[in-house]
Amino acid sequence: MRSGDWGFVGLQTHDSPEAMYMTTNGSVPTVTIRIQRFNPDVDKKPYWQEFTVKATQGKTILDALHEIKEEQDGSVTFRRSCRHAICGSCAANVNGKNMLICDAPLRDHLDRKGRVTLRPLPYLPVIKDLVVDRTTFWEQYLRVKPWLIPPENIPEREFRVSPEEVAALRNAERCIMCGACYSSCQVVALNKKYIGPHALLKAFLRVLDPRDSAPRERLEDLDRGDGVYRCHTIFNCIDACPKGLNPTAAIETLRKLVIKRLAFEDARRERQRRLDQPIEIVGEAPLLSGGE
Ligand code: F3S
Repeated sequence: MRSGDWGFVGLQTHDSPEAMYMTTNGSVPTVTIRIQRFNPDVDKKPYWQEFTVKATQGKTILDALHEIKEEQDGSVTFRRSCRHAICGSCAANVNGKNMLICDAPLRDHLDRKGRVTLRPLPYLPVIKDLVVDRTTFWEQYLRVKPWLIPPENIPEREFRVSPEEVAALRNAERCIMCGACYSSCQVVALNKKYIGPHALLKAFLRVLDPRDSAPRERLEDLDRGDGVYRCHTIFNCIDACPKGLNPTAAIETLRKLVIKRLAFEDARRERQRRLDQPIEIVGEAPLLSGGE
C-alpha cells in the first residue's frame, strides 16, 4: 500500500507506536525507497533500485537505509556516524534536495507517489552508491586556513571578547561541514577551483574573530579569481543548509571587507591591544548579521 492510500488512525484510539501509523485495515504502511546505485567495479553507469520498508513511527531515512542494508541488501553503501545531525556524514540528496538523512523523518519526505528518492550529493564524484568523493570540498576548506592565527601577545589569562563580537560569529560557528551547501552550488558544479560557500563561511568566522591576527592575508586570498567574486548569488547554499545558516550573507560581508582590508587590518591591530581588558557591556548584545 502506498502512502496515498493511507488512512491514519487517530492517536486517541491506539497506544503503541506502530498502531499510530497503522492503516485503517490494521497494517503498518510501507513506502518505497528508490536509491541511485553505482559500483564503479561492476557498473558502467548508475541505475535505480527500489526497496520497500515499513513506515513505523519515528523512522528516519537513515533508519530505513540501515534496515535495507541489514535485511535486504548488504551492498547498499552510505556514510553515517553520529545519527544526531552533528557530524555531517550522512548528507545526501532526497527528492532533489540536499539534507541530513539522520534528521529526516521518512514520512515527511514522501513524494506524490509515496516514494522517497535518494541520490548522492550532486556535482561530486561518486565513490559508491550514496558515498561521494569530498576531496575538493576539504581542499577548499584547508585553503582558507580554518584555524585561528593568534596574535603575538597572547593574554596571560584569557581573551576578553564583547557580546557583540561573539554574536557576530554565533551563526557561522554552527556549521557542521556536511557539504550540503557545497554540492548544491552551481558554481561549484562548473568550477571546482571556486572556494565554495562552506569554506567562505569558515573564512568569515576567522576574519571576523577579534582574536585572529591575519585578516588582511585571508582577505587577499579571497580577492583572487576563485574567491568571493566567483559567487553568483544563486542562494542554493541557503536552501540546502540543514542548520539554517546563510553563507550568502557571509560572502557579502567578506566582499565588503576585501575592499577595505587595509583599514580593517589597522582596526584589528588596535582591537588586539585591548584583548586582555575587561569589556564594558552597554545594553543587550545585538545579534549581528553574518550567519543571517
Ligand atoms: Fe553558490 Fe551560494 Fe553563491 S549557491 S553561487 S555560494 S550564493
